[in-house]
Amino acid sequence: MNYEDTYSSWKSDPEHFWMGAAKAIDWFKFPSHALDESRKPFYTWYSDGEVNTCFNAVDRHVEGGLGKKVAIIYDSPVTGIKRTLTFDELLEKTAKFAGALKRSGIQKGDRVIIYMPMIPEAIIAMLACARLGAIHSVVFGGFASKELAVRIDDAQPRAIISGSCGIEPSGIVPYKPLLDNAIEQSVHKPEFCVVYQREQLEAPLVFGRDHDWDEFQKGSVSCPCLPVYGSDPLYILYTSGTTGQPKGVVRPTGGHLVSLMWTMENFYGVQQEDVFWAASDVGWVVGHSYIVYAPLFAGNTTVLFEGKPIGTPDPGTFWRVIEEHGVKTLFTAPTAFRAIKRSDPDGNYIKKFDTSTLKALFLAGERADPDTIKWAAQKLKVPVIDHWWQTETGFPMVGCPLGLDSPSIKIGSAGLPMPGFQIKVLGNDGKELEPGKLGSIAVKMPLPPGALPTLWNADERFKSAYLSRFPGYYETGDAGVIDSEGYVSIMARTDDVINTAGHRLSTGAIEEVLTEHPDIAECAVIGVKDELKGQIPIGFICLNAGVNRKLEEIMIEAVSSVREKIGPVASFKTVVVVDRLPKTRSGKILRGTMLKIADGDDFTIPATIDDITSLDEIRESLEKVGYPK
Ligand code: COA
Ligand code: AMP
Repeated sequence: MNYEDTYSSWKSDPEHFWMGAAKAIDWFKFPSHALDESRKPFYTWYSDGEVNTCFNAVDRHVEGGLGKKVAIIYDSPVTGIKRTLTFDELLEKTAKFAGALKRSGIQKGDRVIIYMPMIPEAIIAMLACARLGAIHSVVFGGFASKELAVRIDDAQPRAIISGSCGIEPSGIVPYKPLLDNAIEQSVHKPEFCVVYQREQLEAPLVFGRDHDWDEFQKGSVSCPCLPVYGSDPLYILYTSGTTGQPKGVVRPTGGHLVSLMWTMENFYGVQQEDVFWAASDVGWVVGHSYIVYAPLFAGNTTVLFEGKPIGTPDPGTFWRVIEEHGVKTLFTAPTAFRAIKRSDPDGNYIKKFDTSTLKALFLAGERADPDTIKWAAQKLKVPVIDHWWQTETGFPMVGCPLGLDSPSIKIGSAGLPMPGFQIKVLGNDGKELEPGKLGSIAVKMPLPPGALPTLWNADERFKSAYLSRFPGYYETGDAGVIDSEGYVSIMARTDDVINTAGHRLSTGAIEEVLTEHPDIAECAVIGVKDELKGQIPIGFICLNAGVNRKLEEIMIEAVSSVREKIGPVASFKTVVVVDRLPKTRSGKILRGTMLKIADGDDFTIPATIDDITSLDEIRESLEKVGYPK
């Protein structure tokens, strides 16, 4: 089918469309209906169906004769290790680990936090939770103790599964001290932890609380898949909102299975025999959906790559992986390609490898700038397809689906709305804007299967964060335009979320950390343009009266407190000390104006500004640290 017919078949009868798509999944009990509106606006899907995620990712392929096929290729240039796991092996390891969790008391509905690097054991842990109906919550390894502690307190896990360390190009990152610290800070305490000891750095275990990964499983009995309801949560994934308290996005089991399975053939144009590679991290939604779940649901081979696009060892690493493993589809963030392009502008490393198995490159996670798209298309000679989605939706909202006759791509636009998403651009008054006009991007409710039904333990926050501004719509937090042919372009965020190297960060959360410093009276953090990472945060701080310590010392402390509390992933390296922040007469900090000054964009001085000279101070202090670039 082509895109237009598919989209209109969904629009004319969503129930029929999603019941049809559900047939691609193996259910213990097929659902009697797709949409359940009984708890509106907390819509659920396939709520009376009975199903298991792990069964669909692993067991059914073994039962279907694919046991000897490679399910996971682990390729780790940072350790020099390459390993494969067949579906048979994945089943054996997952069922055994699930058995051990069960023996330790983990049951359906219990939360389990997973804080692990990009190793196969992270996938085994996720699938083992799914097997038991336990709800996993993976925390990205680049987050530090405080972020982990906040998630422990919110998710209240009975267990935490961790790796002893991560390996970054800069060296070994010990995870265990971060974990111990987080447990010390959190009010809720897990009953036990399981630690996968990596040979690069073994971690000391806390007696009575921590178990070694191998010891933990000794003598455990393999555990079968537990049927759960379609509406039962599979996982919680925390993402940045406008405050320091991240939002716990709930992923429902049935909708997640159906929507992801649907995307593999229809969106990515992937067949069962293909090798699929999402170069992301299991800690992000892209990793959940397209390193782990969707390729396994579809019986593909998925690549788990523990490395970076450059420096591990060079900008040819992506091309080596494609050649060596026969990758057909690559999915990554534009920043990865910006990094490669910067290191190897002529694409000389590409010429050293045979990338002929590659049929398409998909980009998401941040705005794909036209230069990067053109460079990638020219060098790789494959379609480069931008697509837009969020942690909240779990799968693409907008794109040019390769599997639906590839509608033509417009560079600069993320593409066309996918089935399930009726996308509108709304003005501040909530009225739909005409084509070409910039406004807030909203999606008509109900959201499709797989998208969040609510936030973990926070129904009211779900309503206030997403549903209150535009009644009847889900507010995406992004601003953009739709052109006369229906193509959607994503231009900016409407809140204080910024995107650093494809990672979603809250400037509000960074501000909360800075204001905890005893010498800092107030602060503002903005996300300035960055050639490589898209945006990076910089902080403006005002000191308390009477502070007479060296400014450099305070600035270093401010930077390291963000690194220690939020994590290195925030890429927070620049702090500027100012006497006062520009504000409106009612006291609102003019972050938008500060950003325009930093980015060198034109701006009009807000009529409500309290003290116009405060802008001069911002300009001068930015110049000292090299902005605008
Ligand atoms: N565990 C521990 N630390 C981590 C980490 C992890 N899983 N991931 C990143 N970090 C650290 C890095 O080591 C770095 O620390 P440093 O300040 O000591 O150098 C810091 O967090 C920032 O990391 P990163 O954003 O990766 O920047 P970088 O300068 O190391 O690399 C790129 C730049 C562009 C190569 C890199 O950002 C990249 O590969 N991006 C791809 C984006 C991506 O996969 N996005 C996911 C969404 S699709
Ligand atoms: P996350 O929830 O971490 O996946 O981040 C989602 C956010 O990243 C979106 O709300 C957008 O702001 C941004 N984003 C993701 N994909 C794109 C894209 N293709 N174009 C522009 N912005 C994007």
